[in-house]
Amino acid sequence: MVDIKKAARLSVAPMMDWTDKHCRYFHRKFTRKSLLYTEMIASAALVKGKAFHLLEFSNEEHPVALQLGGSDPSQLSEAASIGEDYGYDEINLNVGCPSDRVQSGEFGAVLMKNPKLVAKCCEAMKINTAVDVTVKCRIGVDDQDPNHVLPEFLKYLSDAGVTRVIIHASKAILKGLSPKENRDVPPLNYPLVFKMKEQFPNLHISLNGGVKSLKAANELLSDGIDGVMIGRSAYQQPSQILLDADQVIFEQEASKSQFDIATDMRQYLKLHISTGGKPHQVTRHMTGLFHGFPGSKIWKQILSKGSSSRDIDFYNEALLAVSASINKFAA
Ligand SMILES: Cc1cc2nc3c(=O)[nH]c(=O)nc-3n(C[C@H](O)[C@H](O)[C@H](O)COP(=O)(O)O)c2cc1C
Repeated sequence: MVDIKKAARLSVAPMMDWTDKHCRYFHRKFTRKSLLYTEMIASAALVKGKAFHLLEFSNEEHPVALQLGGSDPSQLSEAASIGEDYGYDEINLNVGCPSDRVQSGEFGAVLMKNPKLVAKCCEAMKINTAVDVTVKCRIGVDDQDPNHVLPEFLKYLSDAGVTRVIIHASKAILKGLSPKENRDVPPLNYPLVFKMKEQFPNLHISLNGGVKSLKAANELLSDGIDGVMIGRSAYQQPSQILLDADQVIFEQEASKSQFDIATDMRQYLKLHISTGGKPHQVTRHMTGLFHGFPGSKIWKQILSKGSSSRDIDFYNEALLAVSASINKFAA
């Protein structure tokens, strides 16, 4: 049985187009213990569109959480149940995405304005599932006052029986900023997230936004937050963030090097190609493996060159090239 609260001490954020099943498999090679999230999947795509292929994942990915987008309680309830049947360890509701597409569907960050509806959605999802139902939210949107809005929002969630939330510690501006700008422009407010932990001691609260090192994550945990979620840095620099995660955050023996991971991934990639997949679908997530090390550039170049190859030779070539660069640097 997965201890999901423990795993949530460190999680890799849901990221559309990034944290697909190949990416999560790759991240799992770095850390056995951290919690991984899917990209957001619209509840309508599952319930109306029957797009169940979006839910596929490898057994090795556990603990893994499914993030849903939606605002129709009965549809979310059904989608949550489908997700649980597929074996996800947690169902998370997206109340943070500011994209126009999501806003027009009346879900994502715009739901910060309707905590009653979010509570209804969570209650409905909980009725149909035994796994944790969680929410990933912002501290507010547009001209809302986070000091006022966030505690009210959390009270609704708590009363709806939600025991775990992830707070992206900045506002979303729904008109005028792109999703990318919405990750960089609105200022982060960590003190407010810590204040929420004081005000809601029974709620498991993870902080998200702008965490760029494992050391920073560990300090936030030491300061009393229950969990830290990392997005962009984990994706772009997986070795810096995830390689020592089990040792630093979960006090487990660290055992792997980037080369071990690259070697492990060779089998996965080989299988993927042999079943008709394109190498790029896997390797596009792996370009940051040697970030900050000699050979990083040649690694990226050879992976890109082999993006539609029909065999694994390019991958072996990339590994040899990185080894040679590292040895040359060490000599
Ligand atoms: C490419 C990309 C896609 C994202 N997609 C989602 C998503 O599907 N659901 C979600 O809740 N957040 C999404 N986010 C936001 C991240 O989960 C996270 O909240 C944000 O990047 C801030 O964390 P960071 O500073 O550690 O990156 C996305 C972020 C990026 C960079």
